[in-house]
Amino acid sequence: MTASSSTRQQLALLGGEPCDIPASPQYPVFTELARKRVDEVLATGNSCGFSKIHPLIAEAENAVAAWQGTDYCLGTSSGHAALHACLIGLEITGGDEIVCTPYTWGASIASILHNNAVPVFADVDPETGLLDPASIEACITPRTRAIQAVHIYGQPANMTAIRAIADKHGLAVIEDGSQAHGARHAGRRVGSFGDAAGFSCNGVKLLATTESGYMVTNHDSVYRKAQLCTQHMGGNRRDIGRAGEEGFPSDLEPFLDSLVSTYRLTPLNAVLMTEQLKKVDEENAGRQANAQTLREELAGVKSVRMPDYPDGDEAVFYVVTLTFNPDHAGVSRDTYVAALVAEGLSASVYVREPIYRWKRLQRNSGAPRTMWDAMLAEREEAYGDIERPGVEFKSAYTFQLDFQTRYIEDPDAMKKIAAAFHKVEEQLPELQAYERANGR
Ligand SMILES: Cc1ncc(COP(=O)(O)O)c(C=O)c1O
Repeated sequence: MTASSSTRQQLALLGGEPCDIPASPQYPVFTELARKRVDEVLATGNSCGFSKIHPLIAEAENAVAAWQGTDYCLGTSSGHAALHACLIGLEITGGDEIVCTPYTWGASIASILHNNAVPVFADVDPETGLLDPASIEACITPRTRAIQAVHIYGQPANMTAIRAIADKHGLAVIEDGSQAHGARHAGRRVGSFGDAAGFSCNGVKLLATTESGYMVTNHDSVYRKAQLCTQHMGGNRRDIGRAGEEGFPSDLEPFLDSLVSTYRLTPLNAVLMTEQLKKVDEENAGRQANAQTLREELAGVKSVRMPDYPDGDEAVFYVVTLTFNPDHAGVSRDTYVAALVAEGLSASVYVREPIYRWKRLQRNSGAPRTMWDAMLAEREEAYGDIERPGVEFKSAYTFQLDFQTRYIEDPDAMKKIAAAFHKVEEQLPELQAYERANGR
């Protein structure tokens, strides 16, 4: 069935039959070899991630570094841990400021707060939700140490412009590539533009293990300091820390201890990382083809549009983000999304409010005490007082479709997804009447 041939059946939200949307396939799928290798690790009895000297951890870290095009990779227990390791490695702490995006998964910002640094929120492009380079310089103060860019939804941020601003002001650049393994800016994979980058490899990511992540960097010093502070050091036992690794600098030796954040990668996840990496490019290409089909099929749906990307930039579509046009639809975004969900689509609003308005970032919020309360108390400008127009628009007028499972060669599924949009689009008057009767 093509989108345009969808028959005029009653909307599922109004009691009609839902569309025929194929269920999302299982995700992630681990190869037989990956599962066999996990079994082998378990059979040895020791699956603790004490050291790069462990050959499976070394194998994963070397494979990721080669794929990312960076000199170093540090496997971690999560994406949050990887981002935190970036700050640790760069020694950004003690009230240092990081210019960042207010439109991301909270862990990007939590990694800043957890190192006693201060997020300073710039603005984003209203269509993509990516950090808007034009908004960065106004956020730079004498305390600024870095810019953190997030490649949200698998879209590459404008790293050329961000790097240029950072270089002009002598700042470090941190990338959060957790949703964007393999995305390209100016033809190059994200992750190597920054001084350090953190990636999540949790079980829904494009490079999915169970729970893990990695930090990549081209700076030996960042890698070593992150190792020092995020991996358990075994006292004077060099075999269970990372100090026994070739090249560990003698000037850091006196500081080896176990006053660390325990962010170790386990050999089990190391094996999964190595094996999943072998198929990530192919799966990304499948998603890109599907996203292109979806783009074409949605061309006639005036209530939504997909963002365009500059030449040389390649999104990898962890999620497809759509900008909603309420003037055309005549209903609220939430009513429109509810109609799509009733038809069987996995649609939702990923970020409803800019992070600077989240309750736990407000002074005296009544939330449980946190390590950033003192920082909030000191700040003259309360986060709740700021307003950035790009992110206000992005969080109010866009919604997202889950897409990470859509790497399979199934253009028919894209046509069926698009048919649900066409069905809703053809019955906007009915949806408007529903909204008038039921509220938003
Ligand atoms: C953009 C972004 N940053 C950081 C994270 C944190 O990753 P993890 O859940 O592995 O800690 C995630 C994942 O959930 C994410 O989407």
